Amino acid sequence: MDLALSGKVAVVCGASRGIGRATASALAQEGCRLVLAARGTGPLDALAEELSRSGVEVEAVGVDLTSEAGPQTLIGRALARFGGVDVLVNLVGGSSGGSFEANTLADFEQGFARNFWPALKASKAALEALIRSRGAVIHVGSIWGREAGGPVAYNVAKAALVSLTKAMGQDLAPHGVRCVGVLPGSILHPGGSWDRRLKADPEGVTRWMKQEIPAGRFGTAEEVAHVIAFLASERASWITGSVVVVDGGQSRMF
Ligand SMILES: NC(=O)c1ccc[n+]([C@@H]2O[C@H](COP(=O)([O-])OP(=O)(O)OC[C@H]3O[C@@H](n4cnc5c(N)ncnc54)[C@H](OP(=O)(O)O)[C@@H]3O)[C@@H](O)[C@H]2O)c1
Repeated sequence: MDLALSGKVAVVCGASRGIGRATASALAQEGCRLVLAARGTGPLDALAEELSRSGVEVEAVGVDLTSEAGPQTLIGRALARFGGVDVLVNLVGGSSGGSFEANTLADFEQGFARNFWPALKASKAALEALIRSRGAVIHVGSIWGREAGGPVAYNVAKAALVSLTKAMGQDLAPHGVRCVGVLPGSILHPGGSWDRRLKADPEGVTRWMKQEIPAGRFGTAEEVAHVIAFLASERASWITGSVVVVDGGQSRMF
């Protein structure tokens, strides 16, 4: 299937590793022009160089998207380089663990600072451009935004992202802008959180994985990235305000 993404400008927030890196590669394969963001510039610049060697037009932006000015700076760079934004993929996020009793108020604030505000601020910063292009926003949440268990300060921020997806989908539909959530299950990739946990406790984590994930393996970053590319494309034109679970059957909810 031709996703008809060729020439579209895609901004990938959190692009130097894992699902974001795989998303950048998938969108590059579809012919997108890319604006890639992460804090650390080493791996980001290396990815940008690799992609531009294969003919992709790419702008790498070293920016902290949890900072006040970060999201606006990023979208400003996209507009300066390419003159518009067709696709915005929000992937910044992560968890530092903990139960309700263990998590302090500061942990909850941190959960929202990492997992919710960057996505909201980048969406606001790109809104005019997205309306002009009748574009698409993809928020990458987690199955844990809909389930009990796991680190609660992370879960509640990811739940808020699901709610934001619904609101943006409904409110922006009259402008032709779509918003879709992608909720991954446990994804293994080099340098990611499951990679670290697996190295720290190979037997325990493998046992947990076999018990919790029906397919008996972790998901890959590419398996999430391909879904993101499809949802960002016109081929998903009737999908908005909803979430797509990408978890190999791991979660309990549909
Ligand atoms: N991996 C999983 O099992 C899993 C499961 C469910 C949901 N998710 C969600 O999927 C998303 C991506 O997960 P992942 O495992 O691929 O993440 P990851 O390995 O932690 O990579 C995150 C990417 O975002 C960048 N980043 C982090 N903080 C940033 C900030 N403040 N400003 C700008 N860039 C920032 C990182 O680069 P720098 O560190 O250099 O900034 C990196 O490129 C996250 O929202 C995560 O919660 C992941």
